[in-house]
Amino acid sequence: MSVRSKIIVSYTLVLVVTILIFITTAFLVALAVTGDARSFKPFYTIHFTLQPLTPEQESLYMDLKYIAKTSPEKLYDDSLQKDYEFQLRVAKSTLLIRKEGDVDFASPQLEGTGVERVLPDYELDNIRIRSSVNIGDRFYGYAKYDFVLPDQSRGSLFVIRELSPFAALTSKLLPLLISLLFVVLVLANVMLYFFITRRIIKPLDTLRLSAARIKEGDLDFRVEAQSQDEIGQLSQQFEDMRRKLKESVDLQLQYEVNRKELISNISHDLKTPITTIKGYIEGIRDGVPNTKEKMDKYVDTILTKAVAMDRLIDELFLYSKLDLKKVPFDFVRTDLRAFIDGLVGELRFELEQQGFQVEWACKGGAPLYVLLDPDKMKRAIVNIVENSIKFCDKRDKKIRFTLTEEAGKLKLTIEDNGPGIAEDAVRSVFDRFYRADSSRNMRTGGSGLGLSIAKQIVEGHQGSIGVASEPGEGTVVSITFNVYEET
Ligand SMILES: Nc1ncnc2c1ncn2[C@@H]1O[C@H](COP(=O)(O)OP(=O)(O)OP(=O)(O)O)[C@@H](O)[C@H]1O
Ligand SMILES: [Mg+2]
Repeated sequence: MSVRSKIIVSYTLVLVVTILIFITTAFLVALAVTGDARSFKPFYTIHFTLQPLTPEQESLYMDLKYIAKTSPEKLYDDSLQKDYEFQLRVAKSTLLIRKEGDVDFASPQLEGTGVERVLPDYELDNIRIRSSVNIGDRFYGYAKYDFVLPDQSRGSLFVIRELSPFAALTSKLLPLLISLLFVVLVLANVMLYFFITRRIIKPLDTLRLSAARIKEGDLDFRVEAQSQDEIGQLSQQFEDMRRKLKESVDLQLQYEVNRKELISNISHDLKTPITTIKGYIEGIRDGVPNTKEKMDKYVDTILTKAVAMDRLIDELFLYSKLDLKKVPFDFVRTDLRAFIDGLVGELRFELEQQGFQVEWACKGGAPLYVLLDPDKMKRAIVNIVENSIKFCDKRDKKIRFTLTEEAGKLKLTIEDNGPGIAEDAVRSVFDRFYRADSSRNMRTGGSGLGLSIAKQIVEGHQGSIGVASEPGEGTVVSITFNVYEET
């Protein structure tokens, strides 16, 4: 059963149960009050039998009763009758006075009703002075008083109030009330149903359709959360999931593109030296280098090409091993300042050969200890420096190494004045196989592994690496090390 059908069924049940409860409650209340299970009628009648008059009418009745007790003959006085008739009319009731069973005075409203026929007979003890009577479909409540006149004739006094007849009430008002209740209940249920549908079913439908789109591989849409409740949170999480999935799919695609590029680059990078090597070896076989100098030149070229190939293969191999976390780190407590100093010394010759002006800040001073795998860290730094050499396009080439200490960390920055890296590429330079500007890289060569290897190594040291660049001005790569604390 769908959620929609479940909601319809549960609302219909609520409706039926509410009406049943209402009817049962009304029946039970009537039963409790009247003690009679047959109808509401006794309940209604008893109430008016015990209290047929309103307080105002009751007080006029009391006045009349007092007159009947003290000077009953006055009740037959025309002006008194008219006076009380008027007062009772204002209080919405009527007066009837009998003498020896005959009506002596009756309010005009009682004319033609025949109520006098159903009123009780004379009863000197006045035991039952309040009650109600029915005549046709009309219903009256009354209070009476029977008395004896000085001439021994028997008189009766009635204050009568017409009540809404029970039959009319039950036949008109009750069905009306029940229908009204029914209509209100149905309306409330319909409104609730639409409210629930809008708040629950619609968002669920949206989620279902979105899931179907994702299944089809379409991730280019947004799931908007319409509310803050659980359904809203579910939509929000669904949207987060879609975004993450899209990011990862995009990343996979990017990797795929990079991988393809890499394979084509590797093929190219391997093909060129191999073609050269092949050519030179064929030349040697055919005896082309006929002098020792020529032979040396041939062999040197073969060697250089073989070394380049070897390096590329090494790099790939190292990267994949680091990526699989298969390379163990040999950490030794090292003075970072001395280590950098030594490394800059080693690189200085090569850099100056390439026309670089080398600056190295933070030379002397107290040792700054860190845990280091010197060979691997050297590899990381060399990769960074190689980039500065490879990409620098200025005549006046500069490279600056700086070591600073802040907040328990040591920070090495390597800054060049090369072409810099475009803003949107900065984030990706540490991704494997990523090369910011492929056209420039075609010329410079390289697989896009240098910085990703550096990053793997730095992270293996629990450090961090970052790059900042001002395109056209230069690039700053910084590595942060944790200061070694003796335990
Ligand atoms: N100092 C720099 N100046 C300008 N661009 C840089 C610099 N360092 C890195 N880059 C950019 O970042 C990219 C990634 O560098 P990375 O060292 O990972 O790869 P690569 O140098 O292209 O190849 P490899 O280092 O494997 O030979 C480079 O291709 C280049 O576009
Ligand atoms: Mg590089």
